[in-house]
Amino acid sequence: MIRHDASKNIWVLEGDHISYVLGLSELGTINHIYCGEKLPYLSDYASADRVAAFPYTLGSELSEEEFMGWGKVKFTEPSLKATFHDHVRDVDLAFVDFEISEHTLVLLLRDTHYPLEVKLYYKVIPDCDLIERYCEIVNDGETNITLEQALTGSFYVPREKDYRLTYLAGRWPAETQLDRVMMPDTKLVLESRRGTTSHFANPFFMLDQGGKADEHTGEVYYGALAFSGNWKIVFEKDKFNMVKISAGINDFDFCWNLKPDERFCTPKYIVGYVNQGFGQASRNLHDYQRKYVLPEVNRNKLRKVLYNSWDATWFDVNEEQQTKLAEIAAKIGVELFVVDDGWFGARHSDRAGLGDWFINEDKFPNGLQSLIRKVNDLGMEFGLWIEPEGVNPDSELYRAHPQWVYHFETREPTQIRNQLILNLARADVRQYIFDCIDSLLTKHQIAFIKWDMNRNFSEPGFPSAPPEEQKEIWVRHAWGLYEIVEKLKAKHPTVIFQSCSGGGGRVDMGILQYFDQAWPSDNTDAFDRLRIQEGFSYAYCAKIMEAWVSDEVNWVNNRKLSLAYRFHSAMTGNLGIGDNLLKWGDEDSREAAKWIQLYKEIRPIIQEGDQYRLLSVRESHLASVMYVSPSREEAVVFAFLHSNSFDNELPRIRLQGLDEQTLYRVDDREQALSGKALMTVGIKVELRGDFQSKIIRIRKMVK
Ligand code: GLA
Repeated sequence: MIRHDASKNIWVLEGDHISYVLGLSELGTINHIYCGEKLPYLSDYASADRVAAFPYTLGSELSEEEFMGWGKVKFTEPSLKATFHDHVRDVDLAFVDFEISEHTLVLLLRDTHYPLEVKLYYKVIPDCDLIERYCEIVNDGETNITLEQALTGSFYVPREKDYRLTYLAGRWPAETQLDRVMMPDTKLVLESRRGTTSHFANPFFMLDQGGKADEHTGEVYYGALAFSGNWKIVFEKDKFNMVKISAGINDFDFCWNLKPDERFCTPKYIVGYVNQGFGQASRNLHDYQRKYVLPEVNRNKLRKVLYNSWDATWFDVNEEQQTKLAEIAAKIGVELFVVDDGWFGARHSDRAGLGDWFINEDKFPNGLQSLIRKVNDLGMEFGLWIEPEGVNPDSELYRAHPQWVYHFETREPTQIRNQLILNLARADVRQYIFDCIDSLLTKHQIAFIKWDMNRNFSEPGFPSAPPEEQKEIWVRHAWGLYEIVEKLKAKHPTVIFQSCSGGGGRVDMGILQYFDQAWPSDNTDAFDRLRIQEGFSYAYCAKIMEAWVSDEVNWVNNRKLSLAYRFHSAMTGNLGIGDNLLKWGDEDSREAAKWIQLYKEIRPIIQEGDQYRLLSVRESHLASVMYVSPSREEAVVFAFLHSNSFDNELPRIRLQGLDEQTLYRVDDREQALSGKALMTVGIKVELRGDFQSKIIRIRKMVK
């Protein structure tokens, strides 16, 4: 799996189909050599050649370093920039040693003069054909070292022209929009400076050369960063055609005071290669999340059909009306009933109460447990909304601890949604949050937590911290959040945590190490969602993608859609209902019950199967997505027609991922067809009109 060729000084990391090769250069640096299809022999791989020098360009700046220290003649994005106690700002890292265990390679680099060590960790995830890497920066001396930039590292693609970048950008309520751009011969940065992952860009990328790849074919290099605070991914392309992709914690307003004997651990940077198009790259990431990233205890459990009361009741929650909603929810087959914002403190609107995590007794005079008991008696589990990082100035918490928020003493802290952010760099704040949520989970039968975070950072001051630690808050906040959730999970392991951030503002591979699922967007319009969900699927699996059936006329853009269409769109992920059930007639409830029943039947395929994007909603008026069970005996195809004109015939949908020789039955049609026929000839979908949709089941014929 990991081999070392001592004669060439190279390390070869092999997955099921790919290999990733590193080599020691003459300059003592660890260089990238190859990431691509696995080759038969060790001798197939080159060694780390020194690149020829050109006037104005020394070989050192063209050398493809995996982790570059800023020092000597280096002009591209460094992984590490540091200042030593004597004000020397020059890092000179040289390879010292390495260690190989079954799946992991550790390379040790040391500064040639200062007691600074860097350990590069590479882990192969063979069945997902991914390389997971992170590093530790260690102060081995007796004086502080100031880190001004600490990325996880760099990755390179072959020196060719015309790379195309695929990335996810967005905004509230239009997250994870897929965009593509040809890489310019200069620098391009995807990042967040907002304190959280952000709605605006997602730490994920795919690259193909010459725009040659498509969904099902072609070479794709791709990667993601596992971090939920300020991050950046930097793409550099020069006239030598060097393409360098560096990722890590954003150095913007970042500074870390690394004390003697301390280590700084960077987030994971995950990279991979496929030659079967974007779809396979996404499926590898999906597999990786389901097998290795999501919290272990709930990893293999199917996600439940939930009801959330937000759209129905907003802040105006009480036991009586939630009970009525719960009774209808139970009847239609909901398994998890979630009470959203408004159940605590003086929370009647977003102006007050945030931070006071005790039950509002006017709204719940019998306590929350009384409602929970009813929900449980109806056969459902109970879930609750919280936003522990936020605080309204109009709250008991803020009045007692005004120092607990990020602020500068000479500036008025800006309120967004009438709230400020608690300083999770403070141990007392982390303890307070842990105690509040722990007590809620201990005293009540709570199976699900929707953890929200409704604003970006501003005035990020921590007045009582030493000056040299002021700029650490960006990282300490994200780490603080991880620490609290990890502790809560250790004590309440089966509770499902959902990451929400004013919609999809905090979805990344880092948060998914602690949270079991995510809310992609507050936009619940079933048609807009197809686009958001398609973008989401490039990086994240359907199992973690919560999707709701909401109002017939959606608040986002007044679009009116049938209940069937709304269900079909939400059923492509982790199904939830967010509509006001009290407005539903018997017919709606009967129809909903039918779709929920069907979802329960096909959910193992959607949540655990392979996803194929057949026709993109961005490119076609007929969109289609398909899920295939791991055994390839069953599949489910979703088709969404935007509109048809001139009585045009719809294109046949060519399926993917089936076994060529197996005979399958399409819905209840008599005639069985081979997987090969379904994939090459395709199926005809009978849809007419505007915003029509269909679910087609494909099942192996049993003789
Ligand atoms: C955010 C979330 C919503 C809802 C509200 C409650 O906007 O994204 O789903 O929970 O907060 O205030």
